Amino acid sequence: MFAKRTGWDLRPNKLSKKLAEMRARGEEIIDLTESNPTRVGLHYPDELLKELADPRGLLYEPDPRGLLPARKVVASIYAAKGAPVDPERIFLTASTSEAYSMLFRLLADPGDQVLVPRPSYPLFGYLAGLNDLETVFYPLHLGTDGHWRVGLKELEEAMTPRTRALIVVHPNNPTGSCLTYEERDQAAALCARRGIALICDEVFAEYRTPAGRRVPATLLKEGGPLTFALGGLSKWMGLPQMKLSWIACAGPDSEVSGALARLEVIADTALSVNTPVQAAFPRWAGFAPTIQRQIRERVQSNRDWMKKLLPADGGWNGVLELPGVRDEESWALELLERRRVLVHPGYFYDFEQSGIAVVSLLLPSGGFQEGIRRLLANSATIQT
Ligand SMILES: Cc1ncc(COP(=O)(O)O)c(C=O)c1O
Repeated sequence: MFAKRTGWDLRPNKLSKKLAEMRARGEEIIDLTESNPTRVGLHYPDELLKELADPRGLLYEPDPRGLLPARKVVASIYAAKGAPVDPERIFLTASTSEAYSMLFRLLADPGDQVLVPRPSYPLFGYLAGLNDLETVFYPLHLGTDGHWRVGLKELEEAMTPRTRALIVVHPNNPTGSCLTYEERDQAAALCARRGIALICDEVFAEYRTPAGRRVPATLLKEGGPLTFALGGLSKWMGLPQMKLSWIACAGPDSEVSGALARLEVIADTALSVNTPVQAAFPRWAGFAPTIQRQIRERVQSNRDWMKKLLPADGGWNGVLELPGVRDEESWALELLERRRVLVHPGYFYDFEQSGIAVVSLLLPSGGFQEGIRRLLANSATIQT
């Protein structure tokens, strides 16, 4: 009865099973995987909800690209980063995930391939699979300095005649690594040579680590291949529930105009972005700095306290190496059972190396520090 593309193994993994049992018993657990900004005690100005009462929200005048005043705000974000983009080259979407689906529909046919970094965001496999595409990994290599670098040689080798797009994540989730200027130019040149599109996921771009390397503020750039930069309110101002994201497009004029004309039809089939949020966005943008500042301060104070994390250029997550831990799943299960702390084992993000734990840096410092203390107490292999 069901399509093969939905033939997933839906059995809960051991960690989520154990977590559900413990929560059902009412046990207190420190969740070091909490990455939902609306659940970590940030202050959101009351005016945000009031803006949703704007009478323009009662008028339905859909534009497949999204309402122009909202697109102008997105254009101003890129202009501030030195990458001006015409609002006509911007599409609003309900989420970044939806933006991926639209781009996959635009660029690829069933059975085609998209290149994704490893380790990275685990949803890529699902997003590609739902559009009948395959993901092919290219590696990020961990250097002796603790920084991750794009495996360009492997990236080029991974390309086949069925490759339709290269996805780069800047900063990457969870490694926090950005592309350097050189890596950006090499990736762009490779895409141009192969005639494939470059998709730059920049959802975490506002959260750069002060001690991070010197890297581009955005990978959107004229003079390169057909390029799509993705961002959205879920990270840009910590409002995942508002469902507003965007695609900004650059590249050779003929390719851009072809892409825009087709994206317009794709967007027009659903018109999925709701009007009240689009109408509120221009004024919401004025509150973005206060929310971004809180997130930056939270993440930075947790990074400063937990010095053992691998260095990062940005993002909300921390990566911890656990030398000697071979079986991450058993280790994470034991940590949950014995110390009541939840972390993501590295294999969730397809890390090649074993002995990796990923922790969210969004928690208030008290809970974060207690969680890390318990984690360390459970591990003979790392010292504070
Ligand atoms: C790298 C990356 N891209 C995209 C998304 C999804 O963003 P959205 O909530 O806008 O769909 C996430 C969510 O965590 C992410 O980590």
